[in-house]
Amino acid sequence: MINRGDASKSYSTPLVTVSGDGTLSVTNLDVYDHTVTSIALAGDGTPLFDVKVLHGTTVAIPAVDGLASGSYDFYCRFHPNMRGTLVVDRSGGGTAPEPVAFDQPLVIPSVLSGPHVRLRMREAGVRILPTGPLTRMWTFGGTWPGPTITRPAGRATSVTFVNALPKRAGSMTVHLHGDHHDPVDDGQPTQFLIPRGAARTYYYPLTYGGNPEPSSFFWYHDHRMDHTARNNWRGLQGMFLVSDAADRRLHLPTGVRDVPLMVADRSFGNHNRLANPFATAPAMVHHGGQMFFVGPSAPPNDATTGTHVLVNGRFLPHLDVTATRYRLRLLNASSASAYAFALSDGRPLIQIGTGNGLLPRPVAREQILLGPAQRADVLVDFHGEEGTAVTLRSVPRSDGSAGTGTRIAPLMEFRVNGAATDDSVLPTKLPAPELVEPPRRVSKTWTFDLTGTPATGSAWTINGRPFDPHRVDYEVPLGVTQRWRLRNTSEVTHYVHIHAGQWRTLLRDGKAPPPWERGLEDTWRLDPGEVVEVATRFTDYTGPFMIHCHMLDHEDHGMMARFDVVR
Ligand code: C2O
Ligand code: CU
Ligand code: CU
Repeated sequence: MINRGDASKSYSTPLVTVSGDGTLSVTNLDVYDHTVTSIALAGDGTPLFDVKVLHGTTVAIPAVDGLASGSYDFYCRFHPNMRGTLVVDRSGGGTAPEPVAFDQPLVIPSVLSGPHVRLRMREAGVRILPTGPLTRMWTFGGTWPGPTITRPAGRATSVTFVNALPKRAGSMTVHLHGDHHDPVDDGQPTQFLIPRGAARTYYYPLTYGGNPEPSSFFWYHDHRMDHTARNNWRGLQGMFLVSDAADRRLHLPTGVRDVPLMVADRSFGNHNRLANPFATAPAMVHHGGQMFFVGPSAPPNDATTGTHVLVNGRFLPHLDVTATRYRLRLLNASSASAYAFALSDGRPLIQIGTGNGLLPRPVAREQILLGPAQRADVLVDFHGEEGTAVTLRSVPRSDGSAGTGTRIAPLMEFRVNGAATDDSVLPTKLPAPELVEPPRRVSKTWTFDLTGTPATGSAWTINGRPFDPHRVDYEVPLGVTQRWRLRNTSEVTHYVHIHAGQWRTLLRDGKAPPPWERGLEDTWRLDPGEVVEVATRFTDYTGPFMIHCHMLDHEDHGMMARFDVVR
């Protein structure tokens, strides 16, 4: 049985003291793997200590032996709601936290804006860490993130992907996350693949029910069944911006003051090599025609997180800015980690949109929580900050939820230089896209959980079943508007993504959603026990679409279902 204890909520000894020449070791009695990760960083930006403690094992933390006297907060990278404090009490010096340097400039991915885009998927060296060799990645066009595609809404766009990756990568499939298009162009997990050496052209009309799509912040990424986590980890990710006329009329910051930021965590080995967490991928077993997983990294111990949190593929970068207003497009492209974005100067982030369009009005937020695949369109104002440095960081989520927490880490630095003219405007109302009139009755409930035992195999499931690409889990008639209910009955938070449409959020736990969830969405946070109701109109296309958890290991290990839109 998978133990339904609550050890994933806290350490049993959250306050630990090491005195004199004492050492520290950690025993994990839980069924979940955990880490003990220092929040304080060394000068190179890495945690002072960071060890993974597999369930049922005991591990020493040698780095603690060399720490200077002091108090060190720590947390679990897999379950950041677990936090504790280590007090080191000894005479003599030792390693102490150091300020982080933000040495590297931020890279803005190159922009492609034509109607026909061609991208070669190939292995390439990428500058991620500030010194040492480049890191080999699988890329779109030689960079990670791949080029940012920017297009006007309603203008047909075709993107040809050429699979020139190494042989072991196998076939690929590319999903334009958030966009509305035909199932043949959706990056299906097992159909319409791009075999190695071949190319495939995806067609995106950038329309919805015959009208141009709202201004959106989409992203494109691999979606291959069983290998989505690996292929994204290795670098097959890029951003895609759609702008509509209403957005362009608003006088929001543009050009160099409109900055897409893709945040993702990775770990590295010797010589800056990308770590390979998939070397210990669980084995697949079948029971009653269904797929389960066994092995040390079988569910629920399959959350891939990295030691380094990167922005646009760089570790701790900086961006020189003027003391003006900026538009930041925040994307969390991590496999499992969630972030609560906040600024070090205490100024709020003004959220004006989701990934799928503008909100009805701007919302000032102390922190913005984004799980895997979620996006936020925000304004920040550096007026009056001349000569200072403002850090964008991820802080502990402060909404009081018992769900899986957020990473605690600096992300990047804005170096505010001189003043400059700024004719951008902060509107009080926004031209938000129209929302569907929701039916009262729920047509479909999708329940997200964990099934099985470590002995017989386990899987993440939807409605009790692991993914089967040949099984149609639900059929929706074309042209109808439906209300769906999403429920999480597992012990950890999931981030659920639905293909095909752009959705209105109706209820979160029986209440009206918060102001920042009143636009269009495609990915929702579901904390343990939560219920979210959403609605969309199924229009334009028939065929298979996916609903899945966007924690990519969960998706690869069963937490995906197929629904077909039918005539
Ligand atoms: Cu971003 Cu189905 O994926
Ligand atoms: Cu943990
Ligand atoms: Cu999940």
